[in-house]
Amino acid sequence: MNILSPSILACDFSSLVEQIAQAEQGGAQYLHLDVMDGHFVPNLSFGLPVISDLRKKSGMIFDVHLMISNPEQYIEQFAEAGADVITFHAEATQHAHRVIQQIHECGKKAGIALNPATHESCLSYVLNDADMVLLMSVNPGFGGQKYISEVTDKIRRVKAMIGSRQVDLEVDGGVGLNNLQTVLDAGANVIVAGSAVFGQTDIKGTVEKFLEKMA
Ligand code: DX5
Ligand code: ZN
Repeated sequence: MNILSPSILACDFSSLVEQIAQAEQGGAQYLHLDVMDGHFVPNLSFGLPVISDLRKKSGMIFDVHLMISNPEQYIEQFAEAGADVITFHAEATQHAHRVIQQIHECGKKAGIALNPATHESCLSYVLNDADMVLLMSVNPGFGGQKYISEVTDKIRRVKAMIGSRQVDLEVDGGVGLNNLQTVLDAGANVIVAGSAVFGQTDIKGTVEKFLEKMA
């Protein structure tokens, strides 16, 4: 199934709850929450209290993307805050397999993310355990960047590696209505869109347009 995961990074944070409600009314299934620590990525965003407060206001599936060093130190806290899917970066830990186990012990789905320059070979020993792979199609840290076209081939290769396993393939960064089809054709089934959704005036209508193309 194809899933849209709008990223709140592109929201007007003074009307966060209203904007999220519009995305939900449009039919978006996931809500993408980008956590940045100013260390793994050169930017800061938001963290645990924002997620736990939003949890009280939204029934969407919380797709938490941890762009933080040593994610193993915070998994339980993000699970408690209300994350449903927790994705960490392979580059941010020495113990990817252990982090996946930790996420599962919390009863949550585990995603593993790769930066654009990280080779997909590091996935081969965790694909039997992970629930999702996230391929960054921009360098993580900022919204509104241009899609890196070399990633399209990487999506195809990772899709082939996944084979018949029940592992979702999420693509994050620079995806809009213009290049959505390319990303879907390459094999992605979870689509993150920040500025292409929350950067628009008609959020609900934009989500509907995405979902129409993704059906
Ligand atoms: C970037 C984040 C993305 C970001 C995507 O580091 O991981 O989720 O919000 O934003 P757009 O869709 O605007 O590229
Ligand atoms: Zn993200």
